[in-house]
Amino acid sequence: MTTNDHASDTIEALFKEQRRFEPPAAFAARANAKAGIYEEAERDYLAFWSSWADKLEWSAPYRDVLEWKEPFAKWFVGGELNASVNALDRHVKAGRGSRIAFYFEGEPGDRREITYAALLADVCRFANGLRERGVKKGDRVAIYMPMIPELPVAMLACARVGAAHSVIFGGFSSDAIVDRVNDAECSTIITADQGWRRGKKVPLKDTVDVALAQTPGVERVIVAKRVGDAVEMKAGRDAWWDDVIAGQPETCEPEAMDSEDLLFLLYTSGTTAKPKGIMHTTAGYLTGVTATHDLVFDLKEDDIFWCTADIGWVTGHSYIVYGPLCNGAVSVLYEGTPDYPDKDRLWDIVERYKVTILYTAPTAIRTFMKWGVEYVQKHDLSSLRLLGSVGEPINPEAWMWYHEHIGGGRCPIVDTWWQTETGAIAIAPLPGITTTKPGSATKPFPGILADIVDEAGKSVPLGGGGYIVLRRPWPSMLRGIYGAPERYVETYWSKFEHMYLAGDGCNRDVEGDYWFMGRIDDVMNVSGHRISTTEVESALVDHPAVAEAAVVGKTDDTTGQAICCFVSLRGSNPGSPELGDELRKHVGDKLGKFTTPKYLTFTQELPKTRSGKIMRRLLRDIAEGRMLGDTTTLADSSVVAELQERAKAEAGKED
Ligand code: PRX
Repeated sequence: MTTNDHASDTIEALFKEQRRFEPPAAFAARANAKAGIYEEAERDYLAFWSSWADKLEWSAPYRDVLEWKEPFAKWFVGGELNASVNALDRHVKAGRGSRIAFYFEGEPGDRREITYAALLADVCRFANGLRERGVKKGDRVAIYMPMIPELPVAMLACARVGAAHSVIFGGFSSDAIVDRVNDAECSTIITADQGWRRGKKVPLKDTVDVALAQTPGVERVIVAKRVGDAVEMKAGRDAWWDDVIAGQPETCEPEAMDSEDLLFLLYTSGTTAKPKGIMHTTAGYLTGVTATHDLVFDLKEDDIFWCTADIGWVTGHSYIVYGPLCNGAVSVLYEGTPDYPDKDRLWDIVERYKVTILYTAPTAIRTFMKWGVEYVQKHDLSSLRLLGSVGEPINPEAWMWYHEHIGGGRCPIVDTWWQTETGAIAIAPLPGITTTKPGSATKPFPGILADIVDEAGKSVPLGGGGYIVLRRPWPSMLRGIYGAPERYVETYWSKFEHMYLAGDGCNRDVEGDYWFMGRIDDVMNVSGHRISTTEVESALVDHPAVAEAAVVGKTDDTTGQAICCFVSLRGSNPGSPELGDELRKHVGDKLGKFTTPKYLTFTQELPKTRSGKIMRRLLRDIAEGRMLGDTTTLADSSVVAELQERAKAEAGKED
């Protein structure tokens, strides 16, 4: 394994983790998932998935559950439906229009209650506006917005008219927008004037304007007003959201979409510098998110569900927008950061809306631990009954802290492992059934067939570790990489025959519980965000002072991993702290602020093999301050000692 050469020590420690938590009896008695569900799904996994598909509203029934031409799947073949109808119309028709879909809480403290009926009307008006402006079935629409209600409205309006949305996280830079918009050949961008983040204004439209100089295919830009400062609007191309919806009726005929029509693209980092446009289609994706949202979160009529992720990532797509809305849930949508105006903002929100299910990330939990329990204790969190974790492995200490201080010792925790590619949760406890262990995502979801295999693709017996693979298709699986079918096959389906390679290392204990260990490829996981080492390297060498760069992930107490760069400069430039800061900023500007490297070490030479390959394994050891592994293949061994000294100084400075 690459990122986990020394993972065996960690796994030893994890396997010694003896604490276990049975589902509380009262919770188990009412739980949605009943004993026997795993066996039932295993007996006939197609019947299991189709029982969930049958809960959706179809305008034409499907003929076959699955057509599998490995590795290309078609689920619910021949069926027709519309995602926005399933998210909205269905509930309104059933007399639940006055039910709250979102409690929206803006960062400055503005609040809105949005019912299902109101959300449907907003979606219809905006969808009509999109159609009138020429957006049609089969188009791709880029969305670059803050976490305001207009963001789900925009997504659902795209779905209504049959255009696939490609949401670009609002923290990405203009370069990142350019790549994504051009790759997907988007003709429309939906954005906002600005957003709020930690009390500051984020210039979204300005960032889009910079990108627009390099996106020749974009014909129209629609701008929602969030902050209200003047922004540049180009006549003929840019339109205000309010003008787009003005005079539009509150009904809109939905497109009948084939089960396999594209619902959305979501770009994610792989091992190359070019992000991949992960493709999700309509029926299978909705089936996967509906089933998992119901069973893993044990959703009940009176629950108030809050997923704190950003809609710009898959977690927000699946568990803020599509899963909760398809299940008719009542959710919280929060625009801002957890520390604004103070470090108790999340707990203030939990108390205000009496949130019952909270879904957040380990990096956030570790940050709350650092801030101290006093912020938590200011608030009444007794409404909570279930907690979730997602995005990276959760260490047992953080799990226990979450359990005690947020869950009051009474709430089960569901640690959910999944990916942009899986579309929905793939490995997680079912909270009324599963005995949980701090640090383990426990068992595959019913219908999912997972395994751990060794380098040769052989199943590793219980008690061992290796590559996590999925051995059969599942409805919400990615259908491909946009415009790159070969890359899809190559990345996910070629290392082992007949297995989907997720790219994570994982151990499985003797009871069959899964313990995730992080990525095994050149992908870092920083605060639950996937960032490719190659992308950061490309951004660095794009700077005129840089000759060569190598980037590795370094273990970090709060963010899981931190970005650690080794840079050699052109000419005889030895580097300086100022240049270091400039390069960090350069990366942030190229890729988005959240990718700003934490550590940057200058070096005359990067450690290379005699054949000229950068020895990343060695750099990882250096970054972690570990004893170095085998250095016999190193071309020039003097490089390393100096590098170790410098990296140590850099790490000391940052901590
Ligand atoms: O490494 C795994 C980690 O996040 C990766 C997927 O990232 P992304 O596609 O951005 O989706 C994140 C949200 C689903 C995985 O390959 N990961 C996600 N959840 C967990 C996890 N690692 C361990 N435990 C988890 N619960």
